Amino acid sequence: MTLLAIETSCDDTCAAVLGAENQVLSSIVSSQVALHELYGGIVPELASRRHCENIRWVVEQALLEAQTPLADIEAVCVTKGPGLVGSLLVGVAYAKSLAYARNIDLVGVNHVEGHLLSPLLTNPDLTFPFIGLVVSGGHSSLYLARDWHDYELLGRTIDDAAGEAFDKVARMLELGFPGGPVIEKRARSGDPEAIKLPRAWLGKESLDFSFSGLKTAVRTALERQKKISGDIIGENFVSDLAASFQEAVTAVLVRKTLDAAERYQIKNVAMAGGVSCNGYLRQRMSDAAQLQGVDFFLAPPKFCTDNAAMIGLVGRRRLAAGLIDDLTLNPSSRLPL
Ligand code: KG4
Ligand code: ZN
Repeated sequence: MTLLAIETSCDDTCAAVLGAENQVLSSIVSSQVALHELYGGIVPELASRRHCENIRWVVEQALLEAQTPLADIEAVCVTKGPGLVGSLLVGVAYAKSLAYARNIDLVGVNHVEGHLLSPLLTNPDLTFPFIGLVVSGGHSSLYLARDWHDYELLGRTIDDAAGEAFDKVARMLELGFPGGPVIEKRARSGDPEAIKLPRAWLGKESLDFSFSGLKTAVRTALERQKKISGDIIGENFVSDLAASFQEAVTAVLVRKTLDAAERYQIKNVAMAGGVSCNGYLRQRMSDAAQLQGVDFFLAPPKFCTDNAAMIGLVGRRRLAAGLIDDLTLNPSSRLPL
């Protein structure tokens, strides 16, 4: 069965075509970074308008690259939440119209479920059960994925998401938007041990995360340095602070993920979401997993950040399980997983 998948939960307009064995025939992502970086963050109203302008050509491009005429599409899968409601609405309305016009099945998919299972797109060896860490701009959650549609939330952030912390710290350091890639780049020339920053363990048993105290500590370190140097922040200091911040986030993400694997006696660990593009985090998680004797799985960066292929992957399973939606499907900005 050939599927079309659509993802518009935040600021990227995405469409993908998946073939019978879940091979990704095309995956188009139209980024809105240039639009939002002027404001230092995502402006929901602008994101929604831009989705309206983009959705048609992004879908057409996905069909074209997949060399699949619309008549061959047998079902349409779409992100139904969580996310920005104005953004979600564009994808859901488009998918509903298409399902109605072509008389094909419509499947609503949870965005976080898409991220969680995205490593399956490229790792046939990844089997259930696995511990899955989803780290993105909106989420930092740890799951025990027992099977398709059977997930237990083991821990989540009690304040900022990891990606949100990267974005806010990058803004403080005047490095630009989105923060993750620019911090990673600057951190390469910095010393991760140079500036002492806190790690929020939140108690011995807790698998929850917290990044807001770390963000405040970065601000305090920056202000202290400004006082010492008379408002001039040297390039080396910025690199050291970026590296120390990245290390503090990484240490907590790695330790809690592998603690979860040990506690639940799970041999497979996977990581997904925009923050999992981070090379430093990928390497550290991979090294620690190897040391602990667990297998570690990652998606390539193009499937870590928002994309529609992961929505198609989950959508196909929902379809097979009979979890089909009708035209009353509505987006839900706080849809839980
Ligand atoms: O998954 P995603 O594309 O969208 C959401 O669902 O949120 O994740 C976007 C987030 C942003 O906060 C961005 O700063 C972060 O992922 N990110 C990174 C890197 N690339 C993207 N964070 C750390 N290091 C990176 N290389
Ligand atoms: Zn996402």
